[in-house]
Parts: sequence; C-alpha cells; structure tokens
Amino acid sequence: MAAPRQLRCDVFIDASEGLEMIRICPSILNANFDDLPNEIRKVAEVSDLLHLDVMDDIFVPNFTFSLERSLEIIQSSLLPVDVHLMISEADTKAVSYAAKNTASITVHYEACEDPVATLRSIRHSGKRAGLAIKPNTPVTVLEEILDEIDMILVMSVEPGFGGQSFMEAMMPKVQQARHWLRQKGYKETWLQVDGGISLSTIRMAARAGADTFVAGSAVYKADDPAQMIRELRAEAGRR
Ligand code: DX5
Ligand code: ZN
Repeated sequence: MAAPRQLRCDVFIDASEGLEMIRICPSILNANFDDLPNEIRKVAEVSDLLHLDVMDDIFVPNFTFSLERSLEIIQSSLLPVDVHLMISEADTKAVSYAAKNTASITVHYEACEDPVATLRSIRHSGKRAGLAIKPNTPVTVLEEILDEIDMILVMSVEPGFGGQSFMEAMMPKVQQARHWLRQKGYKETWLQVDGGISLSTIRMAARAGADTFVAGSAVYKADDPAQMIRELRAEAGRR
C-alpha cells in the first residue's frame, strides 16, 4: 500500500456544492437503553437510518451491545439500521450483523487484517459496506480501495463515547475523500461523519463534503429529538 501523503489542511473550499442527498442517522448511544423501542419511535419518522454503535471493550474502552442484543435491536427497529462496529476481529464478525433490517455494516480500517476481503464479505451478505477511519488514521489508506466501499466514515471524535467535542481538524480528510469520489466518479458512495455533530458543527461537515451525518447526544439530549433532526437536516442543506 502506498505511503500516506500529507494533506493540505490550509485550504477550505466548499465541497458541498452539488450534493443532493442528506442523510441524518441518530445514534442511540446516548438514548435510554432500557426503553429503546420508544427512543427509536421518537425519531423514526424524520430519520433516514438508525445508527447502532457496537462496542466490545477491546477495540474501544466501552461496551454497548452483544451480538444477540444488537440483532434484537436491528430486528425490532422501525428504521433501517446503520451498524457501526467498534469491535476487534471485525473481519470474521462483521457479517453476523447482516439481518433483515440491516442497511449497512461499517468496520474500522484499524480493526481489520484484510479490509478489502471484509468489505467484500459485507457486500456479499447483501448489505452496504462501510469503512471507518479513526482520527489518527490518514485518509490516504482509502484511496486505492474506493471500489470496495459503499460508505466512508470519517470519525470526528475518538471512537468509544458519545458527547465528545467535534474535531474540526478532521474536515480536510472529508474534503479529500469527497474530491476523490467526484474525480473518480463514485456517485453511489456515501460519505459519513460521526462524532460531535450538532447544530453548530454539522455545517462544517457538510461544507467539507459529507452527505451522511451521525448525531447522538445532540438528538437525545434535545427536548424534542424529532425537531432536532429536522433542524440538523436544514442546517446541513443550507446553502
Ligand atoms: C462514538 C460513536 C458515535 C456517538 C456519537 O464512538 O461512534 O456514533 O454515538 O455521539 P455524539 O453525537 O454525542 O458525538
Ligand atoms: Zn458511531
């Protein structure tokens, strides 16, 4: 694999030009785990996908759901589910999350021994294949394997916890990924940002070229989660 190249971080152009589709994916990480059906119902009508954060206390220092519990949530979800796997041994475990309501399965580049084989196995299971990069992972690791990816996830916090501050310094990675997708003609590849998305940060991610946004605490700490999602969508799409 080619050595990571240095990105130019000093130029910030508006890469959102021409983006038609905006997807808002509420994360239930900060929702009430004891009442998930109701928590999901609050956002179902206004969201595109439900973002499910699976953590194993190995890849990240936090645990959320076992495979069995994840499948229960996926099967009973009113929304298609965007599964974000923050687990080790992702190569062998990813396809276990392919259930009827699963829309996409995202694995971390850092958790895979063979990202390409893993992405292919996810596609083979009939689901969209996502590849996530942590803040310290250069976006250049994606350039040669864009063909295998249905959704790029640029983490804008260290994975593991909700409620952290948005890392604006990740936006040049989003911008670079958008540039490649345009230049190489990948019209169906989604570009997701996850971590610290709120009314005051979503526009930065959208301007950098993201089209798919995860929001956890901004949604579930709001008095009216559905209204917050409407506002986030409007803010992301504002020209
Ligand atoms: C963090 C998770 C996120 C988290 C986002 O590791 O991947 O999906 O739920 O939460 P907020 O929006 O609060 O940063
Ligand atoms: Zn996530």
